[in-house]
Amino acid sequence: MKVLLVNGSPHRAGNTFQTLQIIRDCLYQHGIESRLFQLGSGRIRGCIGCNGCKTSFRCVYEDDCCNALIEAMAEADGIIIGSPVYFAGANGALCAILDRVFYAAAEHGRLFAHKPAAAVVNCYRAGATAALDRLNKYFTFSEMPIVSSNYWNMIVDPNPDRVDRDTYGQEILHTLAANMSFLLHQIGKQQE
Ligand SMILES: Cc1cc2nc3c(=O)[nH]c(=O)nc-3n(C[C@H](O)[C@H](O)[C@H](O)COP(=O)(O)O)c2cc1C
Repeated sequence: MKVLLVNGSPHRAGNTFQTLQIIRDCLYQHGIESRLFQLGSGRIRGCIGCNGCKTSFRCVYEDDCCNALIEAMAEADGIIIGSPVYFAGANGALCAILDRVFYAAAEHGRLFAHKPAAAVVNCYRAGATAALDRLNKYFTFSEMPIVSSNYWNMIVDPNPDRVDRDTYGQEILHTLAANMSFLLHQIGKQQE
């Protein structure tokens, strides 16, 4: 069983990355492997609503990582998307690519249906729940069960590269990883 961890930050080793590493380590302890997908800081296009994906099930634009992300998500058993909070929402570049990924996936049929999913966000001070709400909508649109923790999935810290200071946030991530593992194992048992 493999979980895809998507770092939606342009910072490849920033706070969102560190947050996903915490989740990755917890998942590993629960017997779940993971793969990291980095969005990076390259140019990312937004959806132009051309409906080209209706026939090819891919995005018409091949010059960024959209189609690679569709394939990685299709292969994964579970998905966790991490984003920094930008202006009290999810990172714009991440939303731009997720619009295309989930639109193309919907045209493909129920490509991501029944894959457990969760969003996690990093912020300096505020806007985390609005960002989580935006990201969770991709999952509910796609028939994906949202994995919860026992509080909101966020790490709050005013210091760059110091996610370790938010100890409560880390506990929330541990519970999230445990719940993702539980759900994946239950689904695995049903499929045996
Ligand atoms: C353009 C921009 C907008 C931001 N807006 C917010 C915000 O609304 N609320 C907040 O708490 N932090 C905000 N931040 C801070 C980031 O969310 C925070 O530093 C985050 O941990 C960065 O994660 P990263 O290192 O993975 O990129 C913003 C940062 C940038 C660059």
